[in-house]
Amino acid sequence: MVVTVAATGSDTAEPLHSTTFASRYVRDQLPRYRMPEGSIPKEAAYQIISDELMLDGNPRLNLASFVTTWMEPECGKLIMDSVNKNYVDMDEYPVTTELQNRCVNMIAHLFNAPIGEDETAIGVSTVGSSEAIMLAGLAFKRKWANKMKEQGKPCDKPNIVTGANVQVCWEKFARYFEVELKEVKLTEGYYVMDPKKAIEMVDENTICVAAILGSTLTGEYEDVKLLNDLLVEKNKKTGWNVPIHVDAASGGFIAPFLQPELEWDFRLPLVKSINVSGHKYGLVYPGVGWVIWRSKDDLPDELIFHINYLGTDQPTFTLNFSKGASQIIAQYYQLIRLGFEGYKHIMENCKLNAAVLKEGIDATGRFDVLSKADGVPLVAIRLKDSTNFSVFDISENLRRFGWIVPAYTMPADAEHVAVLRIVIREDFNRSLAQRLLADINKIVRELDAHAVHAIKLSNAAAAEGASKSTVDAVTEAFKGLAGNKKAGVC
Ligand SMILES: Cc1ncc(COP(=O)(O)O)c(C=O)c1O
Repeated sequence: MVVTVAATGSDTAEPLHSTTFASRYVRDQLPRYRMPEGSIPKEAAYQIISDELMLDGNPRLNLASFVTTWMEPECGKLIMDSVNKNYVDMDEYPVTTELQNRCVNMIAHLFNAPIGEDETAIGVSTVGSSEAIMLAGLAFKRKWANKMKEQGKPCDKPNIVTGANVQVCWEKFARYFEVELKEVKLTEGYYVMDPKKAIEMVDENTICVAAILGSTLTGEYEDVKLLNDLLVEKNKKTGWNVPIHVDAASGGFIAPFLQPELEWDFRLPLVKSINVSGHKYGLVYPGVGWVIWRSKDDLPDELIFHINYLGTDQPTFTLNFSKGASQIIAQYYQLIRLGFEGYKHIMENCKLNAAVLKEGIDATGRFDVLSKADGVPLVAIRLKDSTNFSVFDISENLRRFGWIVPAYTMPADAEHVAVLRIVIREDFNRSLAQRLLADINKIVRELDAHAVHAIKLSNAAAAEGASKSTVDAVTEAFKGLAGNKKAGVC
């Protein structure tokens, strides 16, 4: 079964045509969905594939994603040098394993894990925050089940309390591992989890409350400190011991540098695990993530597998077995190359670029800005008036200029709010911000003109005695409303 659907527009079963360049080497067409009978020269294979890939968007203009699209060439070289190393061969590649452990410890210290002088941190590298969240969730589920069994209570209805703004990986975890997701609904004007409402939803079957440091939808940080304080009180009253996980996929590599005083991490006693995406503001190409536990007690032993057939005894706690080692090496490069100072400068610059873009967008007078200054550096906006066109129309039109900016509707209970989100990464500079602003302004003017034209046409149709339904159809057709269309965000 093919579960991915590509939007290339080439949905026919036609054979793949060889390109002008590749026709130098191949004369026959390549079948699209079957392995070709014969071989082709390496130059032809390269040319055919790289020509097809030209039709992908330009990653640097992909403002839909938090994921890193630029790294220094020196790190690129390290990545290529280690691309043939399987991370899981720890006995064969002990230095890579050591680099991973150094990263885990550096990140755990960044998150203020209570690690004694002669202790090492507890954590692992993952493919991204999604795998990290699956592992953290499994640890919570097992710990809770063990406690319930000890108390002779049923353990077949675990739940997690989150905001309805959680990223899809939480929904995946819930469905794959049979945990109910109890979502605190959003309201217009408040697009993150309300800690007070979350606490009301906590019960004896709650394996953890998940807070987000940097909501995917608006970049806003949830109030983890307030959540912790309210949960401490609730636990005291009920005798439960419900913990907190912080999904710091983006914010984990931002807040420590820009707001070191903000308490969201292991300084709060109920925070037992934290995930962060190395490939987002950790500044590494996809896919690397990290999950860190507060202490050894928070990771049940029975989830750790021990293998010895690759050499010595190796403990592993991952969903996958094999994976590439280069992203871990690249993470280590960034941590030692940039240091605290380097990350701080880059995050400050991203924040400044987001502020410049926000100012320019404010100046148009056409949008409300939903993102906050202290959060993930992004600009999330909604139209003040979407009678004549929607943010989906703006998103679609921005594609004409090469920009990839997603539009989407908010989750329950704010589904009627449609948002355009521009993510600022390290490689998005001030002149690109100015160019993007100019293009947004141009598109808004065009869409305005389009709407005026539609109104004139429908007035003319009405004057000529067309029926109301015809007039309405003309108006709608020209508005070009994108209906309920959603673009994925990550
Ligand atoms: C808050 C949050 N959690 C989890 C994820 C999933 O992260 P990854 O893509 O690293 O698996 C994302 C992705 O954007 C996110 O924004």
